[in-house]
Amino acid sequence: MTVQPAFLDWMKSVQSAMEEALGAMLPDQRDTPHRLHEAMRYAALDGGKRVRPLLVCAAGELFGASREDLMRAASAVEMIHVYSLVHDDMPCMDDDALRRGKPTVHVKYDDATALLVGDALQTQAFLVLSEGEGDAARKLSMVRILAEAAGSVGMCGGQAIDLDSVGVRLTRPELEQMHRMKTGALLRAAVLLGAVCGKALSEAERASLEAYADAVGLAFQVVDDVLDATADSATLGKTAGKDAADNKPTYVSILGLEESRNLAEKLRNDAHRALMPFEQEARRLRDLADFIVQRKA
Ligand code: IPE
Ligand code: IPE
Ligand code: MG
Ligand code: MG
Ligand code: MG
Repeated sequence: MTVQPAFLDWMKSVQSAMEEALGAMLPDQRDTPHRLHEAMRYAALDGGKRVRPLLVCAAGELFGASREDLMRAASAVEMIHVYSLVHDDMPCMDDDALRRGKPTVHVKYDDATALLVGDALQTQAFLVLSEGEGDAARKLSMVRILAEAAGSVGMCGGQAIDLDSVGVRLTRPELEQMHRMKTGALLRAAVLLGAVCGKALSEAERASLEAYADAVGLAFQVVDDVLDATADSATLGKTAGKDAADNKPTYVSILGLEESRNLAEKLRNDAHRALMPFEQEARRLRDLADFIVQRKA
């Protein structure tokens, strides 16, 4: 499959709308405390593929959501993601110096600032979700979706398992659970948040969307593990080969490269199959599954 020019145009339009929306929704660095606000903007702006915002928008467009609502939801999920990256890179976690082609926040600033950048981005995400038009019940359901995905049964829990697993040979089900929590949960939330911005879903639509989100969520981290082992730091914008150097259990260390690539391909097919009830209307989500599996960075 080759990525279609129309999809690339759509992707670029969402990425630039995202940059603008985040710029507007993050605190101004002229406001006190300047250094913290500057560091938050340094972490969140000008970089990243914006995969979670793309998923929010693709799911939302399928259900007729407005761009404005989608940008709000997408900004919130991206803020949580950026916070997770800033903390993931800290010396107490993966101890990385490079992120999105730039020095990591604790290297550019300091550890305490990196900690606070993550904390403040997290609360900003929920503030953003609580603002704007729309009824309170819908906002509350969005807050719940994001909070559950980011917390101890989602991303944070997955990160805790990741850190406890250094040098440990996990079984395949244990590895899958860790990946679904640390990465899959937030991608899943992105899809659901986009859908919640649109018209109400039937039970069947929700089930299809969840099956899609589960497949791309796991595929994303399988591919992240493969790229860590195969791509170079300049292409990735982060330190390559870090998982093996840190003795982390990954799909590559447990299944090998070939099997990991086959698994990502199988998950891409699962994602496509889950979208079948939506036919052509789900083409953005379908293209995003392809992009997530075939990306080079
Ligand atoms: C990297 O995420 C961290 C993981 C959850 C695997 P991305 O690959 O989406 O990072 P950016 O946002 O493009 O920098
Ligand atoms: C991180 O996984 C997942 C997060 C919740 C940030 P990784 O540690 O593999 O992410 P990278 O490879 O540093 O981006
Ligand atoms: Mg990590
Ligand atoms: Mg890391
Ligand atoms: Mg990684």
